[in-house]
Amino acid sequence: MDIGAINALSYEEFLNVLGNVVEKCPIITAAVWSERPFSNLDALEAAIDNFIDALPESGQEGILRCHPDLAGKELRSGTLTPESRREQGHAGLDRLDAAEASGIGRLNAEYKARFGFPFVVCVRTSDKRSVPRQLEERLRRGRAEERARAIAEVKKICRTRLRSLVRGDQVNKL
Ligand code: GUN
Repeated sequence: MDIGAINALSYEEFLNVLGNVVEKCPIITAAVWSERPFSNLDALEAAIDNFIDALPESGQEGILRCHPDLAGKELRSGTLTPESRREQGHAGLDRLDAAEASGIGRLNAEYKARFGFPFVVCVRTSDKRSVPRQLEERLRRGRAEERARAIAEVKKICRTRLRSLVRGDQVNKL
C-alpha cells in the first residue's frame, strides 16, 4: 500500500489497517484520519507524533500502560496483538530459558514498581540479551526522563509498524 491508497481509505478502513500502529491505542489513528491527505509517510508519522506530544503526562503514561510486558503473561498465554507477537518473536523473547525469563520478569516488575508503567522499547533493534541490559540502564533514570524515553520508543515502534504497512518514499530512518 502506498500513501495514495492510505489517503483513499474510509475512516473504518483506515482504522482497520492502521489501528494498532500505537499498541492498543486506536484512538490515535482515529484522531489523525481527519488530517488526510498526507503528502507522504513522514507527514502521517508527524501527525501521530504531534498528537502524542500534545497529550498531558497522564495521557502519555496511559499510552505506555496499553503496552504488554515484554516476555510477559500475554506472550505466554498467546494473547498478544499480532504486531507485538511478531516484534517480541523477532527479538527472541518467545524463546527464553527459565533463567532469562525470570531475570526479565524481575526487572519488568522492578521497573513497573518504580515508574508505574511498563518498560517499552522498540525490540526491532534489540535482542533477548540487550533487553535486560536496557532495563537495568533505564531503571536508573528519573521518572520524567524515563517517560520521555519510553514515548520516544513508542514513536519508533509506530514508525516500524507503519513502514511495514505503507510503502515509504525513503528508506528506514530509525
Ligand atoms: N516493544 C515492541 N513491542 C512492544 C510491546 O508490545 N510491549 C512492550 N513493552 N514493548 C514493546
